[in-house]
Parts: sequence; C-alpha cells; structure tokens
Amino acid sequence: MSVSAPALSRIRWFLLVAWLPMLMSAPSMADLSRKARLGEQLFLDTSLSEPPGQACASCHDPERFFTDPDDHEPTSEGVIPGRYGKRNAPTLMYAAPTPVFHFDRQEGLFIGGQFLDGRAPGLKSQAKQPFLEALEMNNPDPESVVAKVRVAGYADLFRRVYGKGSLDDGPAAFARIADAIAAFERTSRFAPMTSKYDYYLMGKARFTAQERRGRELFESEDKGNCAACHPSRPANNGANWPLFTDFTYDNLGVPRNRANLFYTQAPEFNPQGFGFVDAGLGDHVKDRLEDGKFKVPTLRNIARTAPYMHNGYFKTLRGVVDFYNTRDLKPRCRDDWATEAQALREGCWPAPEVAANVNHDELGKLGLTEREVDDLVAFLMTLTDGYQP
Ligand code: HEC
Ligand code: HEC
Repeated sequence: MSVSAPALSRIRWFLLVAWLPMLMSAPSMADLSRKARLGEQLFLDTSLSEPPGQACASCHDPERFFTDPDDHEPTSEGVIPGRYGKRNAPTLMYAAPTPVFHFDRQEGLFIGGQFLDGRAPGLKSQAKQPFLEALEMNNPDPESVVAKVRVAGYADLFRRVYGKGSLDDGPAAFARIADAIAAFERTSRFAPMTSKYDYYLMGKARFTAQERRGRELFESEDKGNCAACHPSRPANNGANWPLFTDFTYDNLGVPRNRANLFYTQAPEFNPQGFGFVDAGLGDHVKDRLEDGKFKVPTLRNIARTAPYMHNGYFKTLRGVVDFYNTRDLKPRCRDDWATEAQALREGCWPAPEVAANVNHDELGKLGLTEREVDDLVAFLMTLTDGYQP
C-alpha cells in the first residue's frame, strides 16, 4: 500500500496532534515544562543513590540515546562496584507512548508496560524502582531518596511545582519524584521523530536503492516480516506515527550470554549462578506459557543502541538479522555458551535460553540472501534521530 501526497500532509498534521495530548497532560504548558525541568534534574542527579554516585542518566545517558554509555559489559553496573543487573538497559526514547500493561482479550496477548517483562504498569510506577533496587541505585527505602531531594539544589523548584509541603510526607513526596521524572520522559526530547525514515515518509528525504529494498524486505510477509511485530507505517490516517513496536511479547530463542555478569553475582542476588534462566514475562505474570517472552522493543535509533536483546547477546545488527534469517537452518553449536562472533564464524547457533514458547511461525528461516540481509541492515540504519534532510 502506498501513501498518497494528500495523505502525507494529513499525516504531518496528525503527527502534531497525536503528540499534543502527551505534551499537555499537565494543567498548563508552563507548569508542565517546569515539572519536566524538575524531572530532568532528578534524572541527572547522581546524589540520589546509596552511596551517592549513580543517577538514572548513568545507565540512560542522554548523549547515548538514553542507553548505558559503558559498552564493555552487556548489562549495567549498579552504584556498588561489581554488582550487575540481569538485563541490557534499553533506550528510554519512545518509551512514553507504551500502553499501560494489560491483557488484550481479543488478541489473547499481553501488551505494554514498562521494563522488558512489563512488570511496571507505566512510567510513574517504573521510576520508583531503580532507586530501591540493590543492584542499581541501592537506597534502603523511599524516605532516604526523599531526604536527598530535600537538600538538593532544585528542592525549591520542587516546592514551586508541587506546593510548599510537597517534600514533607515521605511516600507522597516519593510519588511526586516519580511523577516529575515521568513528565521529563514524556517530553519530545525522548521522541524527536527526526530520522531519515521520518523525513522519507514526509517526502523530505530520498532513500538509496538499498534502503528502499531493505524497507520492502522489512515489510513483506514472505520475506523479513519484521513489521509484523515492529510496525513501520503510519496508522489511523497518520494519527499513529510508527514506533516500530506493537508492544507485544515474544520468545525469539535468543541464546544465553556468558558475558552477562549477573551469572557471577552473590547468591543473595542470583541463587542459581550460571544456571540462571531469565523467564521474562513468564515470571511477571506467573504463567509458564509466557516463559522466555520479552517486550518487542522499538527499533528507532537501533544503529546506536548496541548491544541487542534482553541479555545483550548480540553486538552487531547484522548478527541479529542473520539470527532471524537462519536460527532454524544452521546446526546447533556444540557449545551452548558460544558467543555471537563464535557462532557466526562456525556457522551455528547455540541453544535458546528458554526452549519453550519459541516463535517458529514468524521467524527463524526467512530464506534471505546475504545481500538481502545487508539491505535490511541498511534500512535499520535509517532509523537514527538527528538526520539533516
Ligand atoms: C544500573 C543501571 C540503571 C539505572 C541506574 C537506571 N536504569 Fe532504567 N533500566 C535499566 C535496565 C537494565 C532496564 C531493563 C530492566 C528490566 O527490564 O528488568 C531499565 C529499564 C528502564 C525503563 C523501561 C523502558 C522500557 O522500554 O521498558 C525505564 C522507563 C527506565 N529504566 C527509567 C529509569 C529511571 C527513571 C531511572 C532512575 C530513577 C533508571 N531507569 C535508572 C538500567 C538502569
Ligand atoms: C514475532 C515478533 C517479531 C518479529 C517478526 C521480529 N521481531 Fe525483532 N524483536 C522482537 C522481540 C520480542 C525482541 C526482543 C527479544 C529479546 O530481548 O529477547 C526483538 C528484538 C529485535 C532487535 C533488538 C532490539 C534491541 O534494542 O535489543 C532487533 C534489531 C530486531 N528485533 C530487528 C528485527 C528485524 C530486522 C526483524 C525482521 C527480520 C524482526 N526484528 C522481526 C520481536 C519480533
């Protein structure tokens, strides 16, 4: 289906309209921008951990598309040196439009939520958790976070936004901290929609022949079929600009990642050691039929947010696409812990982390040629924000 020129100008208009409610969810624009500014201060404040030293931005760096700037490890180090979480820190860009976690009865699927397993219904409940997580910012309780905010340089701004006594009552103040951070995460800085692909959709940039082929492969059901889970088209007459996720959950059969330092954590954090298996959504909803499933991530800025998948197994985009293409064709590696580089070199794939519930219908043997794999990667490279048309 191609989009006609009048449809495109409609899309541009709807693009604006679609984002306005998000930007104006506070009483007035002035209040909102002040609240968002407060949220930014909180997000950047490295004194809000225990001991001081780690902010949200330490793992979600604004300069790095809100991902972890430390590329050496697939998962992130907490404020206590040597403590590592089990998952790769996702970009926070385009996280705000994620629907609240729910079960869609019509589709029979879980949809939305924050975190890769959807365990926080939305942004506000999400923002409280890293403060209290022992492997992250390590505060013993909400009150100790609030005590730090009371003496922060922006405490006055906080009281101007939420009222005079707004930092006095611990639990209520903690909820306001999360509210301000969520307001910051809802600003357009997290959703600029300025990739080459956006300009292409608006008729302001041209694709190379390879990028065009890549997009066709991405969308066609009998080729890449990527858009089945990572939708790439404006929908509802342009009211929904593509976010490259349908917010559902799937088990792709991603192998375990031996470089994940969560395996080596003390038994109080990881009692199973190298036997640890990340069940994802299955643990959250306590249903073994959902084991191994993780939320479909946005692919916006994907060229800049390596490593990939919940455990950071893949360091390269080409490796990811090769995996989608050949997972069910190549033989099983003899070593279940083979790295991406080893697997590519030896022409095999290791066993999946969770063998149950692997999606074999939509991916695994796509039948793409090497050139087509390159074409797909070329298309993915057009999704990086900050393109100058
Ligand atoms: C030590 C690193 C670290 C710190 C500090 C950290 N995060 Fe995260 N963040 C992660 C990881 C890892 C995940 C994925 C965890 C999971 O799915 O269980 C994540 C997930 C998220 C998500 C969900 C995104 C999505 O697409 O589902 C949001 C939102 C988020 N973090 C915001 C924050 C905020 C706000 C703070 C500060 C209060 C913060 N993070 C502090 C590492 C960190
Ligand atoms: C059946 C749904 C589905 C289809 C089809 C699909 N994906 Fe995904 N994709 C996912 C899920 C779920 C994840 C996260 C899995 C995980 O973390 O274990 C993911 C992750 C990714 C990632 C890594 C993102 C990140 O930030 O870590 C890339 C890149 C990607 N997909 C590209 C593609 C491409 C290219 C295609 C087509 C060849 C495709 N996907 C088809 C569901 C799908």
